[in-house]
Amino acid sequence: MEIGLIATAQLTNPALCEGKTVAVIDVLRATSVIVTALANGADKIYTTEGIPEARNLLTTFLPNAALLGGERAGKKIEGFDLGNSPLSYTAEVVRDKNIILTTTNGTLAIRNSKTAKQLFAVSFLNVLYAAKVLAETNQPLMIVCSGTNGNFSLDDALCAGMLIDSISRFVPVQCDDLGQIALAFHRQEGSIQEKLSDCRHVKFLRSIGYEKDVEYCLQPNLFTALPEYFPEGYLALKQ
Ligand code: MLT
Repeated sequence: MEIGLIATAQLTNPALCEGKTVAVIDVLRATSVIVTALANGADKIYTTEGIPEARNLLTTFLPNAALLGGERAGKKIEGFDLGNSPLSYTAEVVRDKNIILTTTNGTLAIRNSKTAKQLFAVSFLNVLYAAKVLAETNQPLMIVCSGTNGNFSLDDALCAGMLIDSISRFVPVQCDDLGQIALAFHRQEGSIQEKLSDCRHVKFLRSIGYEKDVEYCLQPNLFTALPEYFPEGYLALKQ
């Protein structure tokens, strides 16, 4: 399988993704939220780039049918039901609800990639299951790492490396140069926590009180669930 890797949400674009299979990764924390919410029974997740767009979309749902979630500068947005902490997307809160999510990097990566033939959301939480499904499709894959505010982010790269390594257990893979770096980083000695101990986004989230989110998001394979983007504008679990 041919695998390419894009380093940030800003570096992906509709032309690059057109007709391809794309896996968007934003470990901290958008794709971890998306995987968690859908695995915990949320119905659909609509992603928007802007806050006004999210609020407008909310008015199209019946009362109590949808929740607003997301962050700016890591913090919950004023008037929103939920922030961007995956730990708050519990089954009690999200079951059968639609979620309207707007984040700084992750939802931008989805928007910039949505010309893909198939688009999936991947995080450490579902990496092995995602690899199995992607290997079954055996189509060329573009991994879009969301990054952080336009910068390359080690957490996404490490998850990309783990995804590539997991796919390689099922089918032979051929990576572009950035994909090879991600794979080599994943295959280095050391735990995920050790490899990310100096990662900027990890340090930022810890500094604003989200240590528990970091711990949670760095756990591989909690779920056998794969969110897929549908042309109607939402993510739901791949059946
Ligand atoms: C994002 O999409 O920008 C991130 O998920 C931000 C965060 O929650 O730290």
